[in-house]
Amino acid sequence: MNGHNPLDTIVMDGEEVSFQTGETLFEISERHRKDIPTLCYDKRLDPFGGCRMCMVELEGSRNPVASCTTKASPGMVVRTTSAKLEKDRKTLVELVASENREIATNQLAGFASLELAQLVKRYDAHSGRFPGKKSGQSHDDENPFILRDYEQCISCYRCVRVCAEREGDYAIDVMNRGFATQITTQFDGDLRDSECTFCGQCVQTCPTGALADKKALRATDIAGVIKKTRTVCTYCGVGCSMDILSKDEKIVGVQPAMDGPANIGALCVKGQFAFDFVQHSDRLATPYVRKNDELVPATWDEALDRAAAGFQQATQNHGNEAIYAIASGRAPHEASYAMQKLMRAGWGLNNIDNCSRA
Ligand code: SF4
Ligand code: SF4
Ligand code: FES
Repeated sequence: MNGHNPLDTIVMDGEEVSFQTGETLFEISERHRKDIPTLCYDKRLDPFGGCRMCMVELEGSRNPVASCTTKASPGMVVRTTSAKLEKDRKTLVELVASENREIATNQLAGFASLELAQLVKRYDAHSGRFPGKKSGQSHDDENPFILRDYEQCISCYRCVRVCAEREGDYAIDVMNRGFATQITTQFDGDLRDSECTFCGQCVQTCPTGALADKKALRATDIAGVIKKTRTVCTYCGVGCSMDILSKDEKIVGVQPAMDGPANIGALCVKGQFAFDFVQHSDRLATPYVRKNDELVPATWDEALDRAAAGFQQATQNHGNEAIYAIASGRAPHEASYAMQKLMRAGWGLNNIDNCSRA
């Protein structure tokens, strides 16, 4: 986006508003808290203009224009809502819903999975108004993470675009056209045989739940409300922001934070799906020390004394430089800070690193 010229203004819903060169009508409307519905839009992706839900009236234009693809130019006069626009939007939702009669409403499926369902509700749309025909056939993909239920697909291409534009993987593609449209993989096979890295971005952008988080969906039958807790991934130094989904104190899934400064909605396979370690029954809950070649549970005092004795022995035998510390990426900041203090102030060494740098 280029610089801002205060003379660049348009009239939006009767009010003169300024814009920056390159801004779309939709972006301007968002800044001014207008509530234009969208469906194929994901602010992280290049505008696509496929669904027309975001259409607005533009003076001088015979037909409404898609606000997500129309760039502002000085003097435009735009209306973001009117009885006619709302009627047309309802018809559009009904056309889309005619392809997808079982509107998914499972929040656990993915971050955006309720978008179509919310539009159906907002417009009181009837999925049976148009006879339509379903496009897309589900793919029984054996991978443990991503469900591919294309019975729910509305061909918005958000998954294809996020995979190409954000992940650079091009693992997902589209074949055929019209009612024969099918979202597929490079060679129409399983995801694990494609370039897919199981980052889950396609799941999180899908507005229908056609692509869904298999792990999180397992918690559908667990009683209790879904709680979201904002946190930071503990795996590596990128520091992706994420929302942990939990039910009854049990972690059931992870969704990326779309406003995370380091990741803007992206996660890798570890952050997205590898959360079982947190509450795994194999996770150590007490220190262990080796006695007669066997690891046995110990108190913290015993374990720390044993560690101190080991360090002393090593420095006596080989000198200070024999000690090198690598802090765990899963440790909190305070623990990492204490560890470098131990090395620098305790031994006078700079032999300290953190696996998060990898
Ligand atoms: S699978 Fe989901 S994101 Fe992909 S085209 Fe279908 S509805 Fe859109
Ligand atoms: S491990 Fe993956 S999700 Fe976690 S911080 Fe690093 S890049 Fe982000
Ligand atoms: S949201 Fe603008 S055309 Fe789909």
